[in-house]
Amino acid sequence: MPWLIQGLSLLKMRIFLIGFMGCGKTTLAKKLSAKLGYQLVDLDHEIEHKLGQSIASFFDEKGEDAFRKLESEMLKTLNYNQNTVVATGGGTPCFFDNMDWMNATGHTIYIEMPVTGLASRLQGGKASRPLLKDLNQQEIQKYIEQKLSDRQKYYQKAKSIVNGINLSADDLRALILSNS
Ligand code: S3P
Repeated sequence: MPWLIQGLSLLKMRIFLIGFMGCGKTTLAKKLSAKLGYQLVDLDHEIEHKLGQSIASFFDEKGEDAFRKLESEMLKTLNYNQNTVVATGGGTPCFFDNMDWMNATGHTIYIEMPVTGLASRLQGGKASRPLLKDLNQQEIQKYIEQKLSDRQKYYQKAKSIVNGINLSADDLRALILSNS
């Protein structure tokens, strides 16, 4: 009864959406978790909730190293249900052993987007992103080019890689069902 086996394995899924800032992780995680009836965890929101302050102001006060340490601790100690969609931060896979930990405990999906697409999406939302807030449009484009190329080696370790352009939660759901 293959449908039963598929149904059973679907009951034990932790899905991590990874990718650069602006690739759509948060929006897609919300929609996907609703479609699957899974718990939603947004790592940035969990961190902000714990801190009682925005990530941007924590960066200003304590710096990036302190943020990365906390991000890694929170990633690994949150109380997940087995059925969870996790929206990670853009840098989460690239520090400590976070990427290996996610691969060992769930299914990682890299939402890949070209630099131009990311740059136009990020121009609008840069105020809340400490790594971008002081950059103009041209600098954002350069920053993304550099950072994305540094980060690719981590993102490419994902179990699935999908094109983020016009990607829908239904597309992700189909991918997950085909992997379960
Ligand atoms: C970061 C991405 C942000 C947030 C922090 C650092 C990064 O998350 O975790 O500002 O290093 O790329 P989003 O990818 O959800 O914007």
